[in-house]
Amino acid sequence: MKNTIKYLNENHARYEQELIDILKVPSISALPDHADDMLTMAGMLKDEMQKIGMDEAQIIETEGHPVVYSEWLKAPDKPTLLIYGHYDVQPVDPVDLWSSPPFEPVIKGDKLFARGSADDKGQIYIHLKAIEAWLATLGDLPVNVKLVFEGEEEVGSIHLEDFIKEHAAMLAADYVVISDTPMFREGYPGITYGLRGLAYLQLNLRGTNTDLHSGSFGGLVKNPINALVEILSQMKDVDGRILIPGFYDDVLPITENEHIKLSKLPFEATDFAKSIGAPALFGEAGYDDLERLWARPTFDINGIWGGFQGEGAKTVIPAEAHAKVSMRLVADQNPADIAQKFKAYVESLIPESMEANIQVMHGGFGYVTDLDNPGLQAGVRALERAFGKEVDFLREGGSIPIVKVFADIIQAPVLLMGYGLPDQNAHAPDENFSLYNFHKGIESIIYFFEEIGKLKD
Ligand code: BES
Ligand code: MN
Ligand code: MN
Repeated sequence: MKNTIKYLNENHARYEQELIDILKVPSISALPDHADDMLTMAGMLKDEMQKIGMDEAQIIETEGHPVVYSEWLKAPDKPTLLIYGHYDVQPVDPVDLWSSPPFEPVIKGDKLFARGSADDKGQIYIHLKAIEAWLATLGDLPVNVKLVFEGEEEVGSIHLEDFIKEHAAMLAADYVVISDTPMFREGYPGITYGLRGLAYLQLNLRGTNTDLHSGSFGGLVKNPINALVEILSQMKDVDGRILIPGFYDDVLPITENEHIKLSKLPFEATDFAKSIGAPALFGEAGYDDLERLWARPTFDINGIWGGFQGEGAKTVIPAEAHAKVSMRLVADQNPADIAQKFKAYVESLIPESMEANIQVMHGGFGYVTDLDNPGLQAGVRALERAFGKEVDFLREGGSIPIVKVFADIIQAPVLLMGYGLPDQNAHAPDENFSLYNFHKGIESIIYFFEEIGKLKD
């Protein structure tokens, strides 16, 4: 073990350089123009898996971007870890707001700046490098490992559920491990034991065949933008409570133990508001800030458009109005059920004068894992050994829709050991990853393999 950590320390610079090399590939899953980059990225990961000593490294086709898989299964009687991550990244616009080009990684201080540095290439590299260090210094691993890196997480993991079902035997494991979440604060490792789910829809309203002169027609027809805002204004009350009938039916409250853990985390509402440039925070009345962020559902309008948007004024009644809306969900809300409830409620509010069409775009379940799970406890020990600080127990407001699918099909708990930071700017300009977390992250996964291995001694 000493040699393994020594190896890690001696290879810091090379590890950083190799991460930089994969960050140069613009593997943006959402944009068809980048299809070749997706293949390049998958190929580089497969080569890397082979290089570090993984077996059966392969690129497995799906209906969309491929999955990269490999395994190391030479530890009989030891637990098996299924390590999942994603090699696709978000689009980079508005590109003008980046301090340096998103696919030309630069190091400033402790931070490596590039699209995908934190979400999620830097974090999947932590696992590859921990495996490399074990195999290079000890010749084997104390656990069995399966690596599954997908290329469609940022577009809703559209083909992964089928992939998991089709390859359920190949993917069988005792624990699913994912590094794709942030820590709560710099220097303090975190274990995320809950994620929110998501239901995403688009609402389209049409009043007439064509735009109309608002003088010649105003007063005779209903304006679809007026109708849209009337409908959307009935989704929440002034206290932030969502008004969709039955919306809260399946929401599980947090336990007393969770309350205690949440209250231990330092969170200053005023400082937080300031850090994001908000005059004040806002949310559902009657709940603490972190509880609202992690364990309560939301309703948000993500975009709204229609009518005249140009300079000056135009007297028009637009023919159409549109909105994209999403709801972050919590255990045990079912995204299909919530989409249905939203649809039924909206339909009940649509005036006779309007034609409506509601599209369900994508969704996923939330997830909560048991804090007493022995795998989670092994993760806690490993993180504390590497970072020398007590672990923060976190839930997250974001979603990794495939987590619940893994939990259900593989029938294994999902451990979320994330190494991002709150100011990582994921999905935004100047995305960055802490190199301290990168190296400590590798060290913690080295220990994690050892701790998990001990569970079945
Ligand atoms: N890594 C994030 C998930 C995440 C974000 C976890 C913040 C914890 C905190 C992931 O890559 C992501 O962006 N997920 C999307 C899912 C969506 C595209 C279905 C999200 O949460 O919006
Ligand atoms: Mn991610
Ligand atoms: Mn993301």
